[in-house]
Amino acid sequence: MGIVYLNGQYLPAEQAKVSVLDRGFLFGDGVYEVIPAYGGRLLRLAEHLQRLQNSLDGIRLKNPMSQQQWLEVIQTLMQENESQDQSVYLQITRGSASYRDHSFPESIQPTVFIMVNSLHAVNVEKLKQGVCAITLDDIRWKACNIKATALLANVMLRQQATEKNCAEAILIREGIATEGAASNLFMVKNGCIITAPISSFLLPGITRDLIIELALANNMALQERDISENELRNADEIWLTSSTKEIMPVIKLDNKSVGTGSYGAVWEKMIILYQDYKNSLRSGEAQ
Ligand code: PDD
Repeated sequence: MGIVYLNGQYLPAEQAKVSVLDRGFLFGDGVYEVIPAYGGRLLRLAEHLQRLQNSLDGIRLKNPMSQQQWLEVIQTLMQENESQDQSVYLQITRGSASYRDHSFPESIQPTVFIMVNSLHAVNVEKLKQGVCAITLDDIRWKACNIKATALLANVMLRQQATEKNCAEAILIREGIATEGAASNLFMVKNGCIITAPISSFLLPGITRDLIIELALANNMALQERDISENELRNADEIWLTSSTKEIMPVIKLDNKSVGTGSYGAVWEKMIILYQDYKNSLRSGEAQ
């Protein structure tokens, strides 16, 4: 572990300490972001900071820093922890009061924490092996659009997948597939890419938006609409997407083969577009 940022200071991770009364620790009262960077260039920084602002608004916490300040701190930390590709984790909690009370305490300072980890380059040949997933009831709350640090439901759901040797749990709410425990969901049917519309039942993934953009720019058929559980079970392809995992093809759902039981042609086209996009970001051509 390298140098992290905590409340205005840059210091070795093992020296960064927060109070046991921090509301992040006591209540999971905070929000976070994960931003990938390729060759030192942040992917969709403005969109990530906008989502952070939306999450902060969602929990009624004032943004402690301006966009420019976020950029400066993140860039300093990226330089301190040099590596080819990186993932920036940042979180803001409501801070710590002198006593424990569910209601917001008056005039406390938020806790701001940022760390940068190296991001291992996704190997497309390895991705082609695909992953397995299970479906589970979406037991989360109704504000899943807020990127909250309170992730206990997601943790419990992902763990059930892990114990079944699966990479992810795909969540079903009242017959509709929302997203994964830590990823967004896409399916392909008859050549058309389908993903759930933005709502309070899922996180508006930045990777999701980028995939939609790449699909439209390349004349690929795409629909944003609800995916029923039944449709999901009959999909030709299923993908799971996130900033750190990119686009994972699901080849088995609840132990049954998805489509041909191998990655699909539409995924293959999209993963190439995605790698091209990353490379253009590295070379400074894309934003
Ligand atoms: N999680 N949905 C959920 C519930 C997530 O936790 C994530 C990402 C996504 C994908 O969002 P994005 O494309 O912006 O990464 C969707 C991050 C990576 C995490 O918790 O580590």
